[in-house]
Amino acid sequence: MTPRKLEHTMPIKECPMAKTSVLSGFYKLPPKERLALVAEFSGLTSEETLLLEQSSALSPEVGDHMVENFIGVFPEPLGVAVNFQINGKDYLIPMATEEPSVIAAASYAAKMVRDGGGFQTNSTPPVMIGQIQVAKLNDVDSAQTKVLTAKDELLKKANEQDPILNSYGGGAKDLATKIINTTMGSMLIVELYVDCRDAMGANAVNTMAEAIAPIIEDLTGGQVYLRIISNLATRRLVKAWCVVPKEALGGEAVVEGIAYASAFAEADPYRGATHNKGALNGIIAVILATGNDHRAIEAGAHAYAALNGKYTSLSRWIKNSNGDLEGVIELPMAVGLIGGAVKTHPIAKIAMKILGVKSANEFAEVLAAVGLAQNLGALRALASEGIQRGHMSLHARNIAVTAGAQGNQIDVVAEQMVRDRRIRVDYAKEILEGLNKKASS
Ligand code: MEV
Repeated sequence: MTPRKLEHTMPIKECPMAKTSVLSGFYKLPPKERLALVAEFSGLTSEETLLLEQSSALSPEVGDHMVENFIGVFPEPLGVAVNFQINGKDYLIPMATEEPSVIAAASYAAKMVRDGGGFQTNSTPPVMIGQIQVAKLNDVDSAQTKVLTAKDELLKKANEQDPILNSYGGGAKDLATKIINTTMGSMLIVELYVDCRDAMGANAVNTMAEAIAPIIEDLTGGQVYLRIISNLATRRLVKAWCVVPKEALGGEAVVEGIAYASAFAEADPYRGATHNKGALNGIIAVILATGNDHRAIEAGAHAYAALNGKYTSLSRWIKNSNGDLEGVIELPMAVGLIGGAVKTHPIAKIAMKILGVKSANEFAEVLAAVGLAQNLGALRALASEGIQRGHMSLHARNIAVTAGAQGNQIDVVAEQMVRDRRIRVDYAKEILEGLNKKASS
């Protein structure tokens, strides 16, 4: 695993964009007015805004082509996080999530980070790994030599599968081998390194792996079983970092609390898993909104967190010499702008437009910044007043709806539950009964 250091190695990238993602009072606006602001920021057409307003934007025709045995759609709320500035550019972040407080926490954290100059990011080229498993070898060492000797031929065959990827500067760039000892004996694993450019790459990599497998069988005399992409994308890493002024956090005590929380997560896998879940709350919400493969991202993130043999946190936070907070996150990020649902799902297409990223690398870097923001939002609350107050205030609206509140009643019931610190369905029903009685008298 690449050592993670709190070093700021990349210069702030120049960005001529004058648009701002600071939309003060955004959360207080009715959804229609929020959408109008987002449409203006992102240049959405009237058809696109109409589609977002409609709850049935995914037509049965499209849905039926996306999955087998299609019967309907599962709607999830789509919101927009504000205040993000990444490498000097402002972004509105589309997020699909069922969890209250995720979007508010990301927006709040992005505002604090903005006070320290925003997020900085960098990333490796978008290289994915394809694995070919060769078993039943009489001499695994000589099989390895034969494969390595035929490297050029194998790369050529792999690249013949995807001339378009090649024309964009991508394609199979390298190949390596490793021998692993398993319960079924020694195996040779051939790894193909494919630059996927703006695609997530699963299709390209799997096609290439399947195409070279017969040559590998001929060369080695072994039997090839699996030919598949690895979701532990250690050659497609992304990093984001930031400095948060202590004043923005409410003082040095909070900075210290976050540094202690970080040390806890780094040392203890039980805390590390929850810490990482906090970061993934943000990343996965964007991945869902944009129609990318969230299982690939989660699998890669957790495997990367355990790469050194012990599960640890993907982000680190320290107090710097000025007493401010510095944080960094690093993880694999296999996302694409083309292919799959990204280009077929009508709402994913609009979410991509709202995000306004021009390459898969830019997209991956934005995701890392969102993960760092989400992690910061959770740690700030945990290290100060605790998570429950803010979380339950937002959750109170859900409880009010569950109890049967409608329209204006939702806010009235939620506010009273928060005031009385009794956020429970039975109490919501009691308040609601009172309201209904008052209305009918
Ligand atoms: C809840 O969805 C996420 C948190 O548990 C993350 C964390 O503990 O850091 C609040």
